[in-house]
Parts: sequence; C-alpha cells; structure tokens
Amino acid sequence: MATPASVQERVQALRELLHHHAHRYYVLDAPEIPDAEYDKLFRELQQLEEKHPALASPDSPTRRVGGRTLDGFTKVRHKVPMLSIRTETDTEPSGAQNFDARVRRELGLAESDPPVEYVAELKFDGLALNLRYEDGVLVQAATRGDGEVGEEVTQNIRQIGQIPLRLNPHPGPLPEGEGENGPLSRGRERAGVRVPPVLEVRGEVYMRRDDFEALNDKQREKIARGAKNEKTFVNPRNAAAGAVRQLDPSIARQRPLSFFAYGWGELSPPQEGGPQFDTHYQALQTLRSWGFPVHQDTSQVTGAGELVAFYERIGELRDQLPFDIDGVVYKVNSIALQKQLGFVTREPRWAVAHKYPAQEQLTTVESIYVQVGRTGKLTPVARLVPVFVGGVTVTNATLHNEDEVHRKDVRVGDTVIVRRAGDVIPEVVAVVPDRRVDGAPVFSMPRQCPVCGSEAVREEGEADYRCTGGLFCAAQRKEAILHFAQRRAMDIEGLGDKLVDQMVEAGVIRTLPDLYKLGLATLSALERMADKSAQNVLAALEKSKQATLPRFLFGLGIRHVGEATARDLARHFGKLDAIMDASVEQLLEVPDVGPVVAESIHTFFAQQHNREVVEQLRACGVTWPEGEPQARAPKPLAGKTVVLTGTLPTLSRDEAKDLLEAAGAKVAGSVSKKTDYVVAGAEAGSKLEKAQQLGVAVLDEQGLRDLLAGALARA
Ligand code: IVH
Repeated sequence: MATPASVQERVQALRELLHHHAHRYYVLDAPEIPDAEYDKLFRELQQLEEKHPALASPDSPTRRVGGRTLDGFTKVRHKVPMLSIRTETDTEPSGAQNFDARVRRELGLAESDPPVEYVAELKFDGLALNLRYEDGVLVQAATRGDGEVGEEVTQNIRQIGQIPLRLNPHPGPLPEGEGENGPLSRGRERAGVRVPPVLEVRGEVYMRRDDFEALNDKQREKIARGAKNEKTFVNPRNAAAGAVRQLDPSIARQRPLSFFAYGWGELSPPQEGGPQFDTHYQALQTLRSWGFPVHQDTSQVTGAGELVAFYERIGELRDQLPFDIDGVVYKVNSIALQKQLGFVTREPRWAVAHKYPAQEQLTTVESIYVQVGRTGKLTPVARLVPVFVGGVTVTNATLHNEDEVHRKDVRVGDTVIVRRAGDVIPEVVAVVPDRRVDGAPVFSMPRQCPVCGSEAVREEGEADYRCTGGLFCAAQRKEAILHFAQRRAMDIEGLGDKLVDQMVEAGVIRTLPDLYKLGLATLSALERMADKSAQNVLAALEKSKQATLPRFLFGLGIRHVGEATARDLARHFGKLDAIMDASVEQLLEVPDVGPVVAESIHTFFAQQHNREVVEQLRACGVTWPEGEPQARAPKPLAGKTVVLTGTLPTLSRDEAKDLLEAAGAKVAGSVSKKTDYVVAGAEAGSKLEKAQQLGVAVLDEQGLRDLLAGALARA
C-alpha cells in the first residue's frame, strides 16, 4: 500500500527538525526546545516509521542512540558499548509495576514465584561518562557519544575532585550515618576487593543547582561588562555538558562539576584478577569502596511494591535534592538474571528509566508585567499560558531584570522554555526563535513603579530598577515599618516582624504615620495581643517620638543612607528641611557622600509622597533637636580597622561600634593582618587567638576608652 504524501511530508519534516535539534543539543550545547518536546517529536517519528516501514531510512534520527561528537576531540571507541536505557514515560507509579510485570514475564516467572530483587537508583540529569582505570590509575575519560564512539575528555575530567585519579585500595570504615541497615551498608564485608587490572566505571557527570546558579550569575556579570562570546546556560545539564566538552581545560576548571557512579564497562574477569560480582548492588558497593561517589539513596528493593514506594519517596524528595534528576532507574539486581534477560536492540531488558514530570516545558507568554519586591526592586515577570512543569502548574515565571529580558529577547506572544527545578522559582530560560509571531513588540521597563506610581530608577552599574517611593509604596510597607522601628533607628520596642505583618495585613497600618495614630482598642484587637503588651507598644511609640535627626533620617530607609551617612548628613546640614531641599551639588559637599548616594537622597525627597509622610510624622509629634550646620567632625581613627569580640563589661556591641565609627574607625567582622586593634571582652574566642597569632594589638574596654579619649584629645 502506498504511503500517503502527507505522511511522507511529515516524516521528512520531523527528521529535519530532529536533526536540527540534535545538533543544537549534542554539538552546540545550546538546545532550543526542552527534552520533553524533543522526545515527543522523536516518538511521533518512531511511530510513523513503524506504521509505514517503507519510509524507513538508515539516516533517520531514530537509528541513532545518542549524540554525535564535536570536532577537536580525540575519538574513543568504547570497548563495551554504552547502551541506552528504555524509558517508562508514564509518570504514574504504575510505571514501576509495568516494568516488574515485563521482567517477570520475560523470565517466565509464575505468580506464585517469589518477587524479583532490584536496585533502585536516581536518574541523574547530566552526561554519561566512561572512566577507564588501568592498574588502579585513571588513564582515560570519555563521553558516550553515539554509544559506540565517544570523545576523549580526560583532561577536563581530571578537574573533578569527586573522581578518583587512583582507586582506593584500602577502603576505610563506612562513613557515619550508614549503620547496619542504612543504604549501601549491607554486605560491607565485601569492601576491600582488590583493584583489577582493567576497570571502566560508568556514571553521570552533573552540575549541582547551586553551582549552576552561581555560574550563570557569573556569566551574566561577564555579559553585563560587555564580554563577547559568553552565554548563560539553559540548565545544569547543559552547563555540565558545556564544561566537559570544553576544549580549553582552564575554562573547564572554572566550572564546578560533580559525579555519581552507577555502573561499569570493561572489567577484568576473575581469572585475570578482576572481581566476581553476583549482584549489581554488590558492584556499586565495591565501586564506593574504591572511592567513587554512589548516591546514598541507591537501594536494594524487592518486588513491584517496593519499586513504587521508591518512586514515590524520591518524587517527594526531588525538590530538596541539590541537583536535578529526571526520574529513577530500576535494575534487576542479579547479574545472572541480567544475562538471562539480555538486550533488545541497544537497550537492556533488565533496566528501565522511570521519569518524573519534566522540569522544562514549552508554553506561550501572554503578557509581561512588573512586580515590586519588599525592598522596592522591580522584577519583570512573564505571565504564561498555564503549563505543568516539575510537578506543579506554572502561570508566572521570572525574567530577572531588564537586561535579561533583552538578552533572551522575550516578547509577548513568544513560545518559551520554562524551567522549574527544586525550590527555585520558575524561570523563562529561552525563546524558541522560529515560533516568534510577526510584529511582537520589544519589552521596555516602566519608568514608574506599577504599585505606587513613584519614579523607578536604575542606578549606574546596577541591573535592577527600584521604586523610589519607599515610604509610600504598598509593596514596601512591611519592610519600611520594620526598618523605621528597629533599635538603631526609632527604637520602637515590641514592634517586631510578626506584629508588623499582622498590622499591615489587617490594614491597620498603611504608612509610617499610622503607627502614631494607633489606639489601645485597635492594638489589643490583634491576635495574641494582650492589653499589657499593647500598652507597652503604645508606650514605646510615645517614647520614640523624641528622636534624633540621624536616627530619624536613617529610619526613613533611603537607599544608600546607612547610619554613618545619616550622621554625616545631620551634622553637615543641621536641619531636616535643609536636607530635603538640598540639590545634588549641595549633597555632594557632605564628606563621604558620592554621586550615587547624593542622587538617591535627592530622588527620595523629590517624591511628593515621601515628603508628605515626613510632614505627617512631624505632625504626629515626632521631633528631634535641630542644630546649626557643622564643619566636618574630627575623625581621629580614620583608616583604622577594629574588630570587636566577646562581651565587654559595660558597653554593648552596638555602643562600642557607634563610638568607634563616630571616631572614623572601620569595624570589621574578622581579624586579618590589616586589623589595627582587637577589642576583646569576656569569652572572646578564635578572633582573640587569631589576633595574638598575628600580633595585632588587643584592648579591653578600658583600653578602648583610652584609645578614644587619647585619639579624640589628639585630634
Ligand atoms: S544505567 C545499560 N543508571 O540515563 C544501562 N543511567 O539512557 C545504562 N543515567 O545515558 C545506563 N542516571 O546518562 C543508568 N542511575 C543511572 C542513571 C543513568 C542517569 C543516564 C545515563 C544514560 C541515560 C539512560
């Protein structure tokens, strides 16, 4: 029967698509579509070819196991082919039952026969490696390539600390926490198997999620600084693949990689000094004893029920793992049974991969909106056609900042790859370029805060826009109140995190002046607020009205205005109105105030909203002694670095810090050769020791007072 032309066309189109995407993925390490999407196209082609055998062709992507090799690497023919593994895409736990049923059928087991023993492992989402050891020494590392021929990547792999360069011939005791019944503890008497003349270890090289995030942050910085030829990576696997297949080992070295072993290739037989493995589990234990990382959740289980339990348990754990997995792998434990089961084409019948919901999916951007964070940071977010990713339905995904939107060129209407892995918030990682709709507009960041309408500014050298309506902006309320109330600002005792949360949520407080309008009835109506504590809060509020100008200024939460700057501003101008009305030039006359700080203060007071809040606070009775402008304060300890440690007899840590900073000293957290003095009180620990080692001058409280008095007297 002739094949319809439409089917022929579709097959041709699928082959071209798959060739294109395989090249992006395997050769360029820059995929344009998620794996799940690739798999879907692949399966469609597979099914069409099965249904219409006349269309079969030796160059079809379905005839290939895996990737291709990149020019520039030496090719390695694997002594034992690196097989692929059958995938159970049914993400219901029943996938495990299907596998068990198949194994039992193929082994000819009856229902009354005992359950089969398996090893259940994580399916690490990285790159398969073959590590060859001769007489216990790593001589070659190779990628899988197409399963027959891979690339020699020994130099790059040597950079991975977790991969032993030499096998450990004298295994020590098992690590703590792996007692008799712990994973991989059974059969510990097997440890200590002698090193075989030839051993090939197979496993997965991967990148941890935190290492991946840090790498991408670094890449983004490089790009922001104008570096050409740099890119961010779509996901940890892609980053790992890029690092392993990096032609320059010095670059590979800067990319942190990790490794887990899960199998072996060529291995000397027992008569040539190799080990005799009866089970897969025993082999993994031996690999571990030789120094290879084998994941601790690798478990020996019995029957379908325990496979299902493993699938569910790891599924729960998945988000908390420090690395990506895309499923679990089940393997028949007995090597004899594995041999009996054998292979179909390039896949063993004794193993299966059982997937979890994909962590990357395609969807469409409906709109791009801007979110305002607690500290006023504006973040562009894509609103998406809802999509099921990494086990949850995602409707929004962060686009990070303006530069990122432009770099990825995300536009409304675009088809994008969305990724959600671990607890990380969902992210748009890339646009599928050939699905752009005509005329899609380029995104531009708003210049006004979408919440309060205040001006939004992006400072030089910063990636983020920020709302400048700190005191007025609803998004920043909680943060603004907590900052205002803190001890080093207005010192309103009892006004902590939980209370502020409650008050803001109940709508009792909208802006700072509302604090001073609180009554006993309102306060005691709040949850867990006894009359007594309500009275205490009111008393603390009353007391805080007698402020100082530096504390009040600091409490306003103007970006870049810390305590020291607030003090300098108060001294320089004397009065608040003078600061509020100062031009950028006038602000620049204040010692230690540079252009960024001056600009920030000026913009803050240019917002009518912020000025109104200040007026209302004054109208509520908040007051402070105002003075005359003063010349620069003497800073006799300028340039000196002091470290505080232990408990001083009368001064609190903050008081000592205030005194020192007022005299111009820098108070640091750790002792180094650059430290001038360490002030040590009771129960001073390692910092004191370090000071003594380095010969740094050590003072007690009296010594500190003498230093300040002497220093001030001299000034
Ligand atoms: S076993 C003969 N175990 O998944 C079985 N593979 O096609 C060979 N993978 O390329 C593979 N974790 O890169 C096995 N615990 C695990 C694995 C695992 C990840 C990867 C491996 C392989 C692919 C399966």
